[in-house]
Amino acid sequence: MKVLTVLGARPQFIKAAPLSRLLRQNHTEFLVHTGQHYDEKLSSRFFDEFNIPNPDVNLEVGSGLHGEQTGAMLAGIERTILAFGPDIVLVYGDTNSTLAGALAAAKLCIPLAHVEAGLRSFNRSMPEEVNRVLTDHLSTWLFAPSRGAARQLELEGITSGIHVVGDIMLDTLRLTTAHDKDNDSGVLLNNLRLTRGAYHLCTVHRAENTDSRVRLSGILEGLSNLSLPVVLPLHPRTRISLQRHGLSLPPNAVAIDPLGHKDMMCLVQSAKGVLTDSGGLQKESYYLGVPCVTLRDETEWVETLATGWNRLAGADPDRIREAIEATPGPTHPHPTLYGDGHTAVRIASILSQWEA
Ligand code: UD1
Repeated sequence: MKVLTVLGARPQFIKAAPLSRLLRQNHTEFLVHTGQHYDEKLSSRFFDEFNIPNPDVNLEVGSGLHGEQTGAMLAGIERTILAFGPDIVLVYGDTNSTLAGALAAAKLCIPLAHVEAGLRSFNRSMPEEVNRVLTDHLSTWLFAPSRGAARQLELEGITSGIHVVGDIMLDTLRLTTAHDKDNDSGVLLNNLRLTRGAYHLCTVHRAENTDSRVRLSGILEGLSNLSLPVVLPLHPRTRISLQRHGLSLPPNAVAIDPLGHKDMMCLVQSAKGVLTDSGGLQKESYYLGVPCVTLRDETEWVETLATGWNRLAGADPDRIREAIEATPGPTHPHPTLYGDGHTAVRIASILSQWEA
């Protein structure tokens, strides 16, 4: 079977790592990188870290307005599908690269597999929400991380192709943390002059937070009220937004470049708490037993909220402080939420049954 996988942005490289190596055992995988993320620190580093083969094609689409970016990807992916002739197109998550891959496949009537199906924020002003909804409704296989996600797809009238397989990021986390983590994190913490359990880790990159001066300054004020240092691996979008809005980081912030996955997981594991607007980090914090404060007004990963390990604080300084103060201790119940870290095996096995 020939699988064409469409990747483009950092979280997709992380999600593809465990499934790509499995698919290649029995099938031919062709990788298209849209070029949505082009910085070494957001892109090629992850291919090296996870031994993902170099993309067969890089469309080098780069940054731009949403329509312009997605349209350029659509044209490039369509050309690639026509040249390669896949049996299946595989997409991950909710970025513009996901939607472009989904549309290109649907227009050429190639069956589409979507990993991370059924997630909803119910906020259509988020570009990711539009990307998810449309991709799900074009998919032949909808790989949902939870029963809740599967139920949502059914509520939207999708009656076939839904499989609850767990969260593929838990597979990646197992790959990443399989090594000598205490030692590695010790070196990293020393280099950053941090003490285990005595700092917070924060990431902010969502358009809703970085494009709004009010929200970004609210988050910075919230961070400045925390009594511990806050490490901030800065996404390029956020660095640019800080300059554009004329905002500076509070004195307790330690800004660093974006990190690879292993270093990031080391920093999560040793943090007192995580503050983030990323979907992936909300789950990774949960898996590693570290409390999370989500800097958004809603989340797709609602199951983490129900456990008490994740709290929504929006971009409001008071809510951020209250949420950090209310975070649970290590003995707080910690149920399994999104499977067992063997999601990639399930997906590979389901796709392998496909006969074109
Ligand atoms: C994208 C996804 C988001 C995902 C995130 C992970 C969409 C709509 N958004 O957001 O869901 O959580 O990736 O990081 O697909 N830039 C660089 N170098 C790069 C890439 C981007 O400097 O390699 C800067 C550019 O100024 C660009 C801005 O970041 O304009 C935004 O990049 P873009 O790819 O459009 O979206 P992300 O914010 O990265």
